Amino acid sequence: MPTFPTLRPRRLRRSAPLRRLVRETHLDPGQLVLPVFVRSGDAESRQPVASMPGVAQTSVDEMLRDAAAAVEAGVGGILLFGIPTAKDAVGSEAWDEVGAVQQSARALKREFPELVVITDVCMCEYTDHGHCGVLTPSGAVDNDGTLALLARVAVSHAAAGADIVAPSDMMDGRVRAVREALDGAGYTDTPILSYAAKYASAYYGPFRDAAESTPRSGDRRGYQMDPANGDEALREVTLDIEEGADAVMVKPAGPYLDIVHRVKATTGYPVAAYQVSGEYAMICAAAERGWLDRDRVMMESLTGIRRAGADVIVTYFATAAARLLDGGWGGGD
Ligand code: PBG
Ligand code: ZN
Repeated sequence: MPTFPTLRPRRLRRSAPLRRLVRETHLDPGQLVLPVFVRSGDAESRQPVASMPGVAQTSVDEMLRDAAAAVEAGVGGILLFGIPTAKDAVGSEAWDEVGAVQQSARALKREFPELVVITDVCMCEYTDHGHCGVLTPSGAVDNDGTLALLARVAVSHAAAGADIVAPSDMMDGRVRAVREALDGAGYTDTPILSYAAKYASAYYGPFRDAAESTPRSGDRRGYQMDPANGDEALREVTLDIEEGADAVMVKPAGPYLDIVHRVKATTGYPVAAYQVSGEYAMICAAAERGWLDRDRVMMESLTGIRRAGADVIVTYFATAAARLLDGGWGGGD
């Protein structure tokens, strides 16, 4: 084994063209997914989310403007979250044919047929108590009682034209319930991207402002995963694949890169990683103070997620990152 001075690793780092030549990891705008928050109702509106600079809750038509910018930059997909007009105990607006997500999916498929439309399937934005499932009389989240509702939501999304449905509730058995319902309704070709390893994370704080989905009481630790567990993530992922998931998600991304790597290595399935609201907010906040270079940290964080093994990256930076890549971004050179 040769060593210094025969070996000098710096030789291949000495110029931008050399670095480019041997670069291992590349970001593709077509594998970035932009999450958006759409409010139901007809009035045109755009309400900025204070804790997520550049992100807003919008009406359907305003969302289409953001989608146009994303498509123009080459972004591959969009992830739809809906904010209902009214909430109730079972979240019934979640499967409303003219709900925010259903309307958005139809409009997007009409305007931008090539943009992959992914819909978030969950109850928390729609329930008055803010949990991801319905509650038992004693106030516990009722796993089995929630499955039929999630299935109904997924079918309504597929009917509206969703290209992929993404259940994010973390109820046990939901992937099977969703798969059976989709198949039963004739949507055998609609894939499921399951939020398989979703952690009970404090990094979701800004999202809950954006989606108005903070639980009224208690927290989500009874169904989302303990941040300390890695082996359990592999069990969750295996179960979801056995139940029919076509692709699996790890969430958050940055603090869980070991999980991204293990999931990719052990399953070989398409893996998505979600750079969540708190990861986005931290970078924006530091950049606003002049403490970090926003663009470079953005690209480094996305490159790290990809290097760990993610195929798809869900990120609020999707359009900004795609624009930089389009402009020939080369690892910061
Ligand atoms: C809930 C859901 C969450 C996110 C997306 N869907 C987290 C939660 O409130 O528990 C978080 C996304 C983000 O922080 O960007 N189904
Ligand atoms: Zn939820």
